[in-house]
Amino acid sequence: MSDSDATLAIDRGLAELGDSFRSAFAAAADEQALRDAQAELLGKKKGALTRVMALMRDVPAEERPAAGAKVNAFKEKVEAAFQARLRELAGAQRAAELTARPYDLSLPGRVPEGRGHLHPVLKTRDDLLTIFRDLGFDVVPGPEVELEENNFTKLAFPPDHPATDMQDTFWVDVLDAEGKPKDGRVLLRTHTSNTQIRVMSSKKPPMAVVSAGAVYRRDDDLTHSPMFHQIEGFVVDEDVSMADLRGVLAAFAEGLYGAGTKIRLRPSYFPFVEPGAEVDIACVFCSESDGTRASCRVCKQTGWVEVLGCGMIHPDVLDHCGIDPTRYGGYAFGFGIERIAMLRYGIPSIKLLFENDPRFLAQF
Ligand code: DAH
Repeated sequence: MSDSDATLAIDRGLAELGDSFRSAFAAAADEQALRDAQAELLGKKKGALTRVMALMRDVPAEERPAAGAKVNAFKEKVEAAFQARLRELAGAQRAAELTARPYDLSLPGRVPEGRGHLHPVLKTRDDLLTIFRDLGFDVVPGPEVELEENNFTKLAFPPDHPATDMQDTFWVDVLDAEGKPKDGRVLLRTHTSNTQIRVMSSKKPPMAVVSAGAVYRRDDDLTHSPMFHQIEGFVVDEDVSMADLRGVLAAFAEGLYGAGTKIRLRPSYFPFVEPGAEVDIACVFCSESDGTRASCRVCKQTGWVEVLGCGMIHPDVLDHCGIDPTRYGGYAFGFGIERIAMLRYGIPSIKLLFENDPRFLAQF
């Protein structure tokens, strides 16, 4: 008994397809191409193998098992080849990922939007410290919570001296294990001059040191805040004179406001220096104009802006720190960072620097 036309047509169809699917799958370069090649065979309407399988409808019942087995065997070959190629492509892709360079380090970076920046007080602090570092000073830290001794006594403030009224501050109770007050009074430092005592007591001359940080006082008005920042500087060596001090301060003024900026020293009193002086810097806000200062609010029409205190370190202070005042001398200076920042940026009230309103801070 010979096979029906339908069965013969199936045999012919399968023979025509032959092994062509293998080369089609092998030619597919990626998963999408492979799936497209598979659809050419098995797509619902137009797939070449689908069309052969549709002939099964016309195969007589007695020939169906044999014809069905042939078609199924073919389909399984196609499926196995498809899966093999799929695994091969996935393996190749993984190998490429593992061996490729993960990042192109030569691409330009993406700058995040809305990046923060230093607070104007800290920016000013860093710029000021840079000026002194360039002049050869070491930068050291100092504690904000300090012994009365280092803040006042060893700096030669006599007990109950009126100058300590000027710098009235916040006292800290230090208790022993039993809860009783310990010996030695502790306070929030009123100035950075405490670093003079700490450094001079622990180092041997020569030394040139600056220190910046927060200080605390009772004052509170448009130009004063109970917490503000200072920079302290001092030099101890043999043969140190007031001329050296003036030279360093002149260099500092020029570093701050440019070459040719003038300074002047006026005699003043601070317990820990002798002689002591206050230093004014020539007003940079009006001195370049027509010479009339009638409207300058920064220098109040004087042409000078007071910025710091300084002097030759008192021999008693050197002595308190174990430095021989007959052999060594020194000079010291100290000033408020906020004041410099306010002059630099034309800020009218110190409060603006501490309220931290983003609309204000964004201007720097
Ligand atoms: N400590 C002083 C103050 O806060 C400032 C000062 C004046 C510092 C004279 C010094 C100095 O080192 O020599 O008012």
